[in-house]
Amino acid sequence: MTVEGKGIIITGGASGLGLATAEMLVERKARLAIIDINPGVLEPVIERLSTKSGAEVLGITGDIVPKAEAYRLFAKAADRLGRVDGLVNCAGVYPRKDILAIADEDWDLDFSVNVRGTYNMMAAAVEKMRGQDIRGTVRGRIVNITSVDAFKSHPKNAHYAATKAAVASLTKSFADAFAPDQILIISVAPAGIATEKAKAAGFLAELASHTPLGRNAQPDDIAEWIVFMLSDANRYMTGENVIVSGGYIYA
Ligand SMILES: NC(=O)c1ccc[n+]([C@@H]2O[C@H](COP(=O)([O-])OP(=O)(O)OC[C@H]3O[C@@H](n4cnc5c(N)ncnc54)[C@H](O)[C@@H]3O)[C@@H](O)[C@H]2O)c1
Repeated sequence: MTVEGKGIIITGGASGLGLATAEMLVERKARLAIIDINPGVLEPVIERLSTKSGAEVLGITGDIVPKAEAYRLFAKAADRLGRVDGLVNCAGVYPRKDILAIADEDWDLDFSVNVRGTYNMMAAAVEKMRGQDIRGTVRGRIVNITSVDAFKSHPKNAHYAATKAAVASLTKSFADAFAPDQILIISVAPAGIATEKAKAAGFLAELASHTPLGRNAQPDDIAEWIVFMLSDANRYMTGENVIVSGGYIYA
């Protein structure tokens, strides 16, 4: 399950699930670049992770939504890392809106970050990965974060759920398009994760009460799956989605 020495880029890695994944990757000796829009949160994280790893963890502040900027951010990370073995698309937003109150700006925000941003980073990554040599049977791996909401009804956040269904769809299309290049593209779909953002949003207790395991995921519970997908152990999964929801998906 090794990720040791792999060059990996994470979007949204300054907090929550992205940060837990970054911490795990640093512990397992990957080489890391984190892209996040929030410099105030990113800078102390980079300092802490660099100290912990004994090697520089690269922090890049920016917005993945405009295509030119996403490409610039990716190139900056790739220039420093050299080979890019993996990309994790974790940046995302999920403000709740009643199903009949979704305004134009709500659609625009959720779709621009969750779908367009993810698309931009995937496109930049496959362009880079296609030119790399094959290691084992794989040239590169991309992990997108979707949600169980992509696969269930979600009247309390319908536009968000639609963005995550779109990410699952993009995952399949990209996987199919770049399978001949031996680039694996997978999505991971969690249910409630006890991140600070989700705690503040106030939906975790209700979600836990409908979850067979009776609790929300801790960020590490999900990060383990992301790291597995990035590791050499994942050689034959592409276009597929892994649901990690404590049983919530079928309850
Ligand atoms: N927390 C949950 O319950 C839960 C459940 C299912 C799926 N998810 C998904 O997991 C991911 C992370 O969620 P989280 O709870 O850790 O949220 P979070 O807010 O803690 O982390 C998201 C990070 O993305 C960054 N970001 C936002 N917009 C960006 C942009 N345009 N460009 C670059 N960076 C940007 C933020 O600054 C933040 O650091 C999201 O995609 C979310 O939809 C979360």
